[in-house]
Amino acid sequence: MTGPGRMATRRVHCRINGEASAFEVAPFRTLLDALRHEVGLTGTKKGCDVGDCGACTVLVDGVPLNSCLMLAVEAEGRAVETVEGLAAPDGELHPLQRNFMRCGAAQCGFCTPGILMMAKALLAENPAPTDAEIRFGLAGNICRCTGYTKIVEAVALTAREAAAEALATAMGAKA
Ligand code: FES
Ligand code: FES
Repeated sequence: MTGPGRMATRRVHCRINGEASAFEVAPFRTLLDALRHEVGLTGTKKGCDVGDCGACTVLVDGVPLNSCLMLAVEAEGRAVETVEGLAAPDGELHPLQRNFMRCGAAQCGFCTPGILMMAKALLAENPAPTDAEIRFGLAGNICRCTGYTKIVEAVALTAREAAAEALATAMGAKA
């Protein structure tokens, strides 16, 4: 879109939550704003908009990033995962989501999408983290409500469940 008083937009092609996506965006727009306004995925939250709170955390090519610090045009050709992509297509919650509910790890829920995405990345890198490693991994995600204990519990429970499931699968394969 061009014209007097209008800045040209760019068309960005990427994958969002496993699906091919294309959207028009002003070159100065952040990925956070583009996800929320151009793509219509409002699960990712804007807390501070300056990289301090982690509420806007998404995964880009599997790496957790503050989407308020990344330009939308930089997503060209990349794979973006947001909280909307966590649950299975049939609506079954991701184990992290289920355990956040089970442990009472969300109160107002504003920080939760960012923490879930960061926790997903943390467990992908370290499937059996200690509580201290979970706290360190989530240190960039601020929660004003929970006091963090329940969040750490939920992530640790998810890790233990995944380990038990892997063990059961391995035992089943041997039987
Ligand atoms: S909104 Fe991006 S870090 Fe706070
Ligand atoms: S649950 Fe309210 S900010 Fe974390």
